[in-house]
This record gives sequence, C-alpha cells and structure tokens, in this order.
Amino acid sequence: MRKMRAVLLATTVTFALMACQETKHTDWKDHALDVASYQLKHTAQELEDSVLLPRSTWTFDAEDFLVSQLGHDVVKSDDPLEVYSVEVLKGQRRDCEIADWTSGFFPGSLWYAYELTGDEALKEQAIRYTNMLYPIHTMAGTHDLGFMINCSYGNAFRLAHNDTIAAVIVETAEALCKRFNPNIGCIRSWDFGPWNYPVIIDNMMNLDLLFTASKLTGDSRYYDISVAHAKTTMKYHFRPDYTSYHLVSYQEDGTVEKKETHQGKNDESAWSRGQAWAVYGYTSCYQETKDTLFLGQALRVADMIMERVKTNDSIPYWDYDAPAGDDTPRDASAASVTASAFMRLSTLAPDGEKYFKYAEAILKNLSSPQYLAEKGKNHGFILMHSTGSLPHNSEVDTPINYADYYYLEAMKRYLDIEKPGNKSN
Ligand code: GLY
Repeated sequence: MRKMRAVLLATTVTFALMACQETKHTDWKDHALDVASYQLKHTAQELEDSVLLPRSTWTFDAEDFLVSQLGHDVVKSDDPLEVYSVEVLKGQRRDCEIADWTSGFFPGSLWYAYELTGDEALKEQAIRYTNMLYPIHTMAGTHDLGFMINCSYGNAFRLAHNDTIAAVIVETAEALCKRFNPNIGCIRSWDFGPWNYPVIIDNMMNLDLLFTASKLTGDSRYYDISVAHAKTTMKYHFRPDYTSYHLVSYQEDGTVEKKETHQGKNDESAWSRGQAWAVYGYTSCYQETKDTLFLGQALRVADMIMERVKTNDSIPYWDYDAPAGDDTPRDASAASVTASAFMRLSTLAPDGEKYFKYAEAILKNLSSPQYLAEKGKNHGFILMHSTGSLPHNSEVDTPINYADYYYLEAMKRYLDIEKPGNKSN
C-alpha cells in the first residue's frame, strides 16, 4: 500500500512538473525557430526522392474579387489548359523545378535555420538542396540567377565555404554580367514580354552576388556593374514620393521606353513587395560601397514604407494602394523582406533605433498565430498570408518560400543585434 502511494506520488509530481514545463512561457523567438526547423525538416524529408522544391500553394480566386482589388480586369492566361490545371490543383502545395526563380529560397531557409539552431540535420538538407541547383548556376535568360544562387550557394559560402562554392558564385556573376548593357546602365531582367529592355525593381536583389564575386576575385567589374545598375535604377524607377515603379523598360540609347507594373494594382500604384525589394537593395548597396548616396535612398524608401503601410500590424496589403479592408490579401513576404532590410539598416543609419523597432514589431507580428504556421500544417511552410501576383490570379493569400527565407534572415539579423554587448537595451 505504502509502495503504491509512493508510486502515485511520484507520478503526480512528474505530471505536475510536465504541466509546469508545458505552461512555462516559451519565448516567441524560440517558438518561431522551433516551428521553422520542424516545417523545413519535414518538408525536406517529404521531398527527399523528388527533383522539386517547395514554392507555395496553388490558388485560384473568383474573378470579381480580383477585379474589386484591382479596379480593372485581371491578366488572363491565353492557355486554357493552364487555367484548368490551376483550378484543379487549387489548395495543393505548389512545388517548383530548379530553374524556377524561387528555387534558392528553400535551401537558403535551411541554411538560416541551421545557423540559428545548430541542428546538423538541417545542414545536411541545406547541402543537398544547394547542390541540386548546380545545373542552373549559369542559366541564360534571367536576372533571377542572383536570387537563386546567392540564397543557396551564397549562404553555403558564408557558413561552410570552400573553393568549389566560390567558383559557382563567380561563374554565376559572370553569367549575370552578360545581361548588363553599358549604354543603358542596367542588367536586363526578363527575356519575355512586350518590352524592349525590361528592368524590374526586384533586380536590385541580384547585386549582392556581384559584390561577393568582386571580393572573391578582386575583379572590380562586378562591383562597377552593381553600382551602375543601382544608380540607373535610382534615377528612373522612383517617383518623387520615393515609391518605386515595378518595371522600367529602356530604349537602346538608355532613354525610358515605358514605366509600368506587372504584379501591382496599376502602373502608378506602390506594389508592396517592390517597395521592400527597393529598401533591401539600397541598404545592401550602402553596406557594400559605403556611398552615402545609397544610404540616403535606403532611408527615404524606409521612411516612405513606415508612412505608407497603414495596417495595424505593419504587415502590408499586397499593394499599398489596394482598398483597405478585412478581405484585402496581405503580403507577409513584403513584410519579411522589409524586416530583414530594416534590421540591417538599423545598424547603418544614424537614427537606426526607429528602423530596429519597426522591424522588431514586424517580426513579433509574423511570429504570432495570425501568420506563423502550426507545426505540421500550412503545407510545410513557416508563414501564412503572402501574395505572389494578384493581377495574374496567382499565389494570392498563400505561404510562399521567399517569405520564409527573409523571415529567417531577419530573425538572424535581429538575434545578432540583440546579442549581449552588441546593443544597449
Ligand atoms: N521577383 C518576383 C516577385 O517578387 O514576385
């Protein structure tokens, strides 16, 4: 009897301790990293025998809803088979091939998650998914090589560098530079579409890889091309209020052919992710060059973002000019790119604290149940509620791999700043 009482007591104490641990407040950052690691590891394992990478989910919204967001017609695909398959696939995870512009983000997220947790299983997967991209590292036909290779091999180089990785980065930089036209002063973005020489604001994100290549080789050509691209973009992409056009197309002599949008509400609107690419790009350019021209641009765009994003949690609608309302899709990816850029800007700007606080608030909000997935849900992605291209009825209010990537990057930058001795709080 006494023995039984002892067992009962021990069991009660054990349960009480467990309950105590369960209810113990878990820091929001620890919780976010726990979710991120779980999601990434499981998705990596799930796709282990596949040649595909996770991108987002297939969405297909009612046309009248999209028209109410846009204020004009949607852009229709002229391929009926494509429309039909998207309708059929709606709600399923959208995986992508290595040639897709987003292929670098999943390996990059694995690298950041490994760096943030020290979990060797994440590193193994990061290596595997990075190596998968080797065949595309000199692929002609897109400026997106910077995204693809910098987020995968670029992080590999940072964390486990060797000469082979360095060679991949330099060869990619070489391929990217072939897309530079000195008369125009820009790297060409796309080889499709009706434009003579399209350059999108997103292209600012490809410059980091060129800066790295310049440091690796000592060849200033990569650096000079980056700086020229950033200066030309600064001259033609921005409106007087420092919002950016999505796309500027040039004539061969460098004059502007047209300025318009591809993924935003209309040609004069401020497409949310475009503004985020802009502040990220100019912050990087300043970090690399120490040219205050770029710091000034980053600060003006950052201040514009803080002024123009009116949602109460600072996660913007898909376009700053979209109708405000509960039904209007958000773009968590624009928020995570902004948070990452602002974290870095906060360490470079004279009054950096306001950018730090803004980015910290974004990170906390993205880490709340409103945006952060539950383990095992959300098709294996970390964040919910991003928007890819609403005018094309594509990836509206869905998880997207680049939201996850820049969220983890922002977390890394945040935790670095927060390290004891790095910041007086
Ligand atoms: N670079 C394409 C996008 O931001 O959707």
